[in-house]
Order: sequence, then structure tokens, then C-alpha cells
Amino acid sequence: MDNSKIKRYTVTAALPYTNGPVHIGHLAGVYLPADTYVRFLRANNRDVKFICGSDENGVPITLKAKREGVSPQEVVDKYHKIIGDSFRDFGVSFDIYHRTSSQMHHQTASDFFETLYNKGVFTEEVTEQYYDEKAQTFLADRYITGTCPKCGFENAYGDQCENCGSTLNATDLINPKSTLSGEPPVRKETKNWFLPLEKYEDQLRTYIENHKEWKPNVYGQCQSWLNAGLQPRAMTRDLDWGVKVPLKDAAGKVLYVWFDAPIGYISATRELFEYARLDVWNPKSEEYYINQNGVQKGNWEDYWKDDSTKLVHFIGKDNIVFHCIIFPAMLMAHGGYTLADNVPANEFLNLEGQKISTSKNWAVWLNEYLVEFKDKQDVLRYVLTATAPETKDNDFTWKDFQARNNNELVAVFGNFVNRVVVLTHKYFGGKVPMLMDVTPEDQLVIDELAAAPAKISASIEQYRFREALTEVMNVARIGNKYLAETEPWKVIKTDEDRVRTILNISLQIVASLEILVEPFLPFTADKLMKMLSYGGHQWEDAGKMNLLVRGHQLNEPVLLFEKIEDSEVEAQIDKLNKSKDDNIKANTIATPAKENIDFEQFSAMDIRVATIIAAEKVEKTKKLLKLTLDTGIDERTVVSGIAEYFKPEDIIGKQVSVLVNLAPREIKGVVSQGMILMSENANGELTFVAPIENHNNGSIVR
Ligand code: MF3
Ligand code: ZN
Repeated sequence: MDNSKIKRYTVTAALPYTNGPVHIGHLAGVYLPADTYVRFLRANNRDVKFICGSDENGVPITLKAKREGVSPQEVVDKYHKIIGDSFRDFGVSFDIYHRTSSQMHHQTASDFFETLYNKGVFTEEVTEQYYDEKAQTFLADRYITGTCPKCGFENAYGDQCENCGSTLNATDLINPKSTLSGEPPVRKETKNWFLPLEKYEDQLRTYIENHKEWKPNVYGQCQSWLNAGLQPRAMTRDLDWGVKVPLKDAAGKVLYVWFDAPIGYISATRELFEYARLDVWNPKSEEYYINQNGVQKGNWEDYWKDDSTKLVHFIGKDNIVFHCIIFPAMLMAHGGYTLADNVPANEFLNLEGQKISTSKNWAVWLNEYLVEFKDKQDVLRYVLTATAPETKDNDFTWKDFQARNNNELVAVFGNFVNRVVVLTHKYFGGKVPMLMDVTPEDQLVIDELAAAPAKISASIEQYRFREALTEVMNVARIGNKYLAETEPWKVIKTDEDRVRTILNISLQIVASLEILVEPFLPFTADKLMKMLSYGGHQWEDAGKMNLLVRGHQLNEPVLLFEKIEDSEVEAQIDKLNKSKDDNIKANTIATPAKENIDFEQFSAMDIRVATIIAAEKVEKTKKLLKLTLDTGIDERTVVSGIAEYFKPEDIIGKQVSVLVNLAPREIKGVVSQGMILMSENANGELTFVAPIENHNNGSIVR
């Protein structure tokens, strides 16, 4: 969107799902870039509303409530508070943090649905869904378990098999069972309302193709959805938790959570204006966390229905289709709304080389971090922005966290600021000294400083926050280098006026840093402001040489950052490993033993020791390896689903155990003669089962 046309901004951050606290992956992927962007806009005096809230509907909430024996409302109340607190504690400066269980949201989402209904947008379809007769309820796919038709895993969910990763329909499962009653479900007809996405295909294509500037990952995903052809999608579900479908013949049905959740952005904006305008916010209220910027002027509709509003959605990559295809289609169907100008979705952040997992407790939880690293919000903000998964998945490691803190925040930024302020106190009683004669080398530094803000702005405007943060750090580097070269602590002995100039220039750099770093590290900016006893500057002031006037009194220096010791990060790594071990134990014990078999059944299996003599990937598959085994009896081919865990070249020569009398079967065009025995722990990690010492191939396992 052309900058000169923009009158205001609506910036949204994905509504976090309230079935658990938020972790570093959420912060790095969505909330920090969004907050940085918004703070930058505010520093530029732009009119911006920063919108978020809790996503509190949907099946996972009801499942969690069942498992914990509490009501869904209790689940969402608990996490709404925890998540809201974390955001506030980390300085994520929403104008409103709302929630989708609120009255305002139910009303807004319901009205939105009704509008589409009255316009005849929906198609009605009767389909067969699983129904639990005992519990008298339709079953969402997640409520059904059974045997995976693809891999035979017995505890696959109706929507996905966690063993082989396939996406399933509940009706695909073999021996399906309801998780509510344990009974096999029956099929029953039910009517739902579908949004015919295919009707919006052309409009959507035009919309997407007008945004070639979007990040390649986002643009590419949209193209592939469009090219695959869009299908009607049910916008209502048979469920008793959520926004009731506002139709007469829809008892027991709620809006699909991905229908109501994005409307949550709209309802939050309405709430912000309709209540904040009356100035009735109670900032201590448990309902909302508001960064109250006084009475709100204007109207919520300006932020959603005006062409001069720039709408930006910050999300993670798993949300792309919902924000770039489905929500825009809903808005098109409704009419009157503006569409997002950009959807800068990030990839995923891994933790110590592994996927972050809530259920496996493989995560750094924000609420726990703040207890263990008190007042170190900005350290995490810094590291997560510096390693943000902007273009590809990225890895957070505690060692890197420590290194960036010690080598960058402490050694570069903190050190520069500290030296300047300490020296000013030492030589000039903390008063800003006068700028005297400017040498050519001074002028170079002044010019570099003056050029920095524009570079940083350009990066932020293109959603390149890592790059922008590097540029901010480079300003501190310029300052450090300047001090190292001019050595005021030596010059003071011979030429006090020269030191006046050096420190004046250095202090102007510090003052600019305060402005430039604020969108990224607001807590640090705050400390800087207090230290410099200065405030109220705007982005356009950054880079100037007159931010601190001669004679201005500084406050005492405070340390901005402190070193993080090896022991502190080792404790974090231990904690992670421990939670992993606990998790493995818990899951191992939780897997019940199978039913008894007799000895004959056991001895019907012919298991032999064999050696892998060749291995290669099966073409066009991700998971399969084709192995050639020397079984002592013969040489044979076995296809094994281990390609994600082992490289072919690493396993050649390994001894394994193989079930040789398993009936051969063809897998992806290769005949597999037998099965290799593997041990799998609760984290899905695999290892071969083999004799502890090498045995001859063909040795019998019994
Ligand atoms: N709750 C979703 C998630 O955690 C995000 C919802 S974003 C919104 O993936 F569009 F629905 F608001
Ligand atoms: Zn499976």
C-alpha cells in the first residue's frame, strides 16, 4: 500500500489458543515482530490499533476440560489470565487483549454469520458424521480414536495419526471408538452450513496476485491452495462449546472455530472503541489487559472498513490459509470490509534442535522464564528477534542465548552506554559537555549515525526485523569503535576540550539508541530514558546531534545488561532434559501391555540376526528406506519407514533383528520381505534392536 494513502493501521496478532501457556515459539513467531512493528509505528506518530485476544472456542478446549474434569470456561479463564499476564510482562503492547468467550465477540460473530446467511452465501449440506449414542452427541474427529488405515497404529485420532503423521478423516479409521464413552460411534446424518470457497476463487486470486510483495512462503502457500482448487468448507459444527449458530434449525451447533476466531479481531476492535470511548476500563480487571492510551477517538469501523486503513496480520505459518484464503473470502462475502495489506507469517522456531511441543513439555514457557530470569525480558526479546524464523525454521539454543547476551548485549550495547555515561559523570559531573571542534573522523561517525534510522525504518517496513535489529546494534558498534579510537580516558590528561567533543557525540549516539532500540527492547529503552533523564522523542529525531543539550544533567549510570553464567544456561538445559525423561517415563508406563498370547503364537515368528548391506531411499517417499539384508539364509529386501531418522550411509554394516517369515508385501512398488525390529520411545525416537555383541547372520532370536 502506498505510504501516502495510509491514514491508520490495524495490526493484529494471531489470537493464541487458550489450552496452554505461551512459549518462546509464539513470541518469536508472532508477538515480538508484531509488537516491534507497532511500537515503530507509534514512534512515527502513526495512528495504530494493536489487536489481540484469546481464542477460546473449539474442540481442543472441550477435550482439555474433559481430561481435567473441569468446565471449558474454567480452562479458558485459567489460560486467558496466564497468557495475558505473559504478554503484559514481556511488554507486548496491545491496545486490547480481548477474548472470544466474551459477550461482544459472541454477538459480533453471530451477526456476521447471520449477514452471510441472509445474503444466501451458505450452502446447506447433510453429511454423515459419527455420533455417540451413549453421550448423545456428535463427535468431532478429535474425539474418535481407532486404528490408522495407513500404518496400523492403534491409537490414531480421527483427524490425524500421530504415528505416521497422515491426515485422516474419522470415517477412515478402523475400529473407531468414541473417547467419550469408549463405544463404537454410529453414523448419523447432520446438516451444516458451508462456505463455497470455490465461488471466491477468482476474487481471491486477484487479491493474492496483487500482493506479489508478500513473503515468498506466504505467497507460495496461497498459490498452491488456489491451484489445487478450493472446496466448500463447513462453517458450523456439532458441538456444544462456542458461538451458537443463530438459526432456528441449528440447535446443538456452533460456529466453526476458524470462522469465529478471526472475527475476534473485529470484535476486539469494537470492544476497544465502544467501551474505551466511554472510559470505563478497569485496568486491573481480569477480563482484559489493556494498554490504555486514554479515551479512544474515532470509530471501530474506520479500522476495518476504510480503504485508507492498512491492515496487517501477524501469524505463524500454520495459520496462512485461514488468514489469506478463508478469512478474506468471509470478508468478501460479507462486503464492506478491507482486506489485509500484508500477512507476514513466520516459520517455526525449534528448541535445541527439536520441534517445540506442548504435550511433550519441550518448550520454554514465558511465565517460567520470567521467574528464572527476573527482569530479563529484553534479553529474550533480543535473542528471539535476532534468531526469528523469518524465512526458514530456526533453532533456539540456551548456549546461543548466553552468547548473544554476553557478546552482544553486554559487550557491545551495554558496554558502550555504560562507558559514555560513566565518563561523563567522572569528567563533567554528569552534565552533557559542549560540542567543540569537530574533526573529519568525528564527522564520519556523525554521518553514519545520521544514516542509520532510515535503514532501520526500511527494514521494519518490510517486516525484516532481524536485519533491523542488526542495524540498531551496528549503531552501538559505531559508538564502541569511536571510543576505542579516540580514547577519551587518555586524552583527558592533555586536552579536556577534545574529550568534551568526544563525549558529546557519544552521548548523542546513546540518545539515538534509546529511540532506535525502543521497538525491540522497550524495557532497556525505559532504563536509558531514566539514565539520560530524557524522554518524549520520536523516531524522526533519531540520528540527530542535538538530542541532549549542553549542560543537561544525566542520572547515575545503571547496568543495562549483566553477564549470564554457564551454570544458568546449563540449569535450563538440564531442566529440559529432565522434562523429556519424565515425559518418556510417563508415556512408557502409560502404554498398556497387549493381551496375552501363548508360546505357539510367539514361536511362530522367525526372527533372525542380519546385517544391512545396502540402503537407499525409496523414490518419491519421505519415510521409506529400501534395505538389502544379509540374513544368513539369503539376501533380501526389506522396506522400512525409518528414513526420517537414519541416513542410508550411516546404517550400512549395522546388525539388526529381522522378522523373516512375515508375508511379503509390496510397498510403493518394492516388495518387502520381512520387518526390521525397532525400539521406539515416547518421543518417537527409534533405535535398532540387535544382539549386544555381533552374532553370525542367521542366528535365531527367541
Ligand atoms: N488460535 C489459533 C492458533 O493458535 C490462531 C487464531 S488466529 C485468528 O493457531 F485468526 F483466529 F484469530
Ligand atoms: Zn498411521
